[in-house]
Amino acid sequence: MSDAAPDEGSEALSALLHETRQFPPPEEFTRQANAQPGIYEEAAADSEAWWATQAEQLTWDRHWDKVLEWDLPYAKWFVGGRLNAAYNCVDRHVENGRGDKVAFHWVGEPEGEARTITYADLQRMVCQAANGLIELGVEAGDRVAIYMPMIPEAAVAMLACARLGAPHSVIFGGFSSEALSGRILDADCRVVITADGGYRRGVASALKPNVDQALEQCPDVRAVLVVRRTGQDVSWTEGRDVWWHELVDRQPDQHDPVSFDAEQPLYIMYTSGTTAKPKGILHTTGGYLVHTSTTHRLVFDLKPETDVFWTAADIGWVTGHSYIVYGPLANGATSVMYEGTPDAGGRDRWWRIIDEYKVSVLYTAPTTIRTLMKWGEEYPDAHDLSSLRLLGSVGEPINPEAWMWYRQYVGRNRCPIVDTWWQTETGAILISPLPGITATKPGAAMRALPGISAEVVDNDGTPVGNGEAGFLLLTKPWPGMLRGIWGDPERYMETYWSRFPGSYFAGDGAKKDEDGDLWLLGRVDDVMNISGHRISTTEIEHALVGHPSVAEAAVVGASDPTTGQAIVAFVTVKGHVVAVGEEGAALVVELREQVAVTIGPIAKPRQILLTPELPKTRSGKIMRRLLRELATHGEIQGDTTTLEDFTVIAKLREAEEG
Ligand code: WT7
Repeated sequence: MSDAAPDEGSEALSALLHETRQFPPPEEFTRQANAQPGIYEEAAADSEAWWATQAEQLTWDRHWDKVLEWDLPYAKWFVGGRLNAAYNCVDRHVENGRGDKVAFHWVGEPEGEARTITYADLQRMVCQAANGLIELGVEAGDRVAIYMPMIPEAAVAMLACARLGAPHSVIFGGFSSEALSGRILDADCRVVITADGGYRRGVASALKPNVDQALEQCPDVRAVLVVRRTGQDVSWTEGRDVWWHELVDRQPDQHDPVSFDAEQPLYIMYTSGTTAKPKGILHTTGGYLVHTSTTHRLVFDLKPETDVFWTAADIGWVTGHSYIVYGPLANGATSVMYEGTPDAGGRDRWWRIIDEYKVSVLYTAPTTIRTLMKWGEEYPDAHDLSSLRLLGSVGEPINPEAWMWYRQYVGRNRCPIVDTWWQTETGAILISPLPGITATKPGAAMRALPGISAEVVDNDGTPVGNGEAGFLLLTKPWPGMLRGIWGDPERYMETYWSRFPGSYFAGDGAKKDEDGDLWLLGRVDDVMNISGHRISTTEIEHALVGHPSVAEAAVVGASDPTTGQAIVAFVTVKGHVVAVGEEGAALVVELREQVAVTIGPIAKPRQILLTPELPKTRSGKIMRRLLRELATHGEIQGDTTTLEDFTVIAKLREAEEG
């Protein structure tokens, strides 16, 4: 645990709370929302029975014998039940006569490029891909890595794996080849599905070269399935590489799904923790599908016949897994899937998409809302956004200002906003308003969903009173919860279940306001949240000290008006290295590149400061709080500023802190 107190910034928060307005649920929702008053009490009376009722909405090949088996820290949900995730997401809708319903309106980044994929299309595509994977020797239990741009084939690849009971490990396309090989090796993936490249900000970027480079470290990968997306030249390893259009397109478009145990691993998703090594978060089939589909139905008040749902996230993160693929598809919903950035083709691209496809529910991250806000309301103002009826936020605490802007200029003061708190580990939303029941407050995630037990506690694990802050815990297991860290049961126990025995420690600070409503306050460990993406300070420090010139590195998250937090690195160099002037500037460029190569461009520090010393306590602990303060408020300008008086500040601090 770091020295960050859970109540950091709570003063500013209290001030805001004071003048907080509260928005009651609009009448349209109180009358006909899927979740109606009484649902909380009903779920609280018998949460297992309540989850079992939700689970009845899926199609099971064998009914479960028992809802929950809880042997801390391991949960099994719907024990004995059998189902196929892909069948539930695709085939059953076709069988129910909804084959012509659109599953995805896919919008490519290049203007004018779009594809409409119905559930019947999706069924054919998934069956062909599954048959293709079988030809590549994929069997139930085999891990398959997916490293793709935001194209329909990414969702198809995931569903094809799920259909075969082969857990997928999707690795975000922005990760470097080194990050990719680390993940492939950790899960021992034998097949990789990728593309030649993708479009990002108007240019075709390459993915296949990263795979080629990664696989130099991964001799056990026997096949690479490559989608042609951009048409760029790729190098080819005969006997290993196969074009998607050559293998998949010639497959039969039928495939009989077999059912799997409810606890069959569905996927692994790597996320950053407090050490340099990312954690492979394991999710299984039955509970996860129940949790994602239930929350999609209740939190977003899904009306499957009329809604057009848009989760503006990448499939490479858990938000894309749960609310682009599994939740919406299990519910037979229509989604927009957009490949590019919000300003590709103009700063009004999003608003044009909403108007064109009549999007009714928009789900995005505060960092994007702040960016759109910075560009100005003239962009949303110029478009017809009347199809929108509900807005969602996820990924980091949303500042009240962004919340109000979202409400006013996107929701036109009509649409409720659901601020949804969850994590890669939780699989699906746990804390959020319900649009027909809960009043909303700008910046608050409000309360735990039906069937979920959350608590805010102090250092000793005692629940805090209203108006107080502490650590967020989940006190009962939930269906979508992680089933462990791939290959590392000790770390699983240690990270989540040892700080407060009996409860899941989320790593977040939270506050109960005077009404008992929940406000999330950010991470309390050494994990940063950059644009809604979790990045570990230790992982970046590790990358930096991997450079031959670096002696020591300390990385902190400074607050940033757009990205929430920004990465700032303090670096000391080895004795012989010149770290001033042009040489210093050149080194900073190299170091930034070092991070991009080791982790990925998303982890590049905003600022790297070369400094003669790092401030440390007498016991040798780096004073991160001081660095954070300096990075946020300090007079630090330019990357090569050497902090002459650094040692002095550090000494003063040390005296102050005793
Ligand atoms: C961390 C999880 C959930 C999918 C995307 C991120 C922060 C997430 C909220 C929210 C305040 C939030 C937490 C959490 N977070 N949603 N609505 N309000 N903070 O998934 O990468 O696993 O990150 O994101 O700090 O622990 P992730």
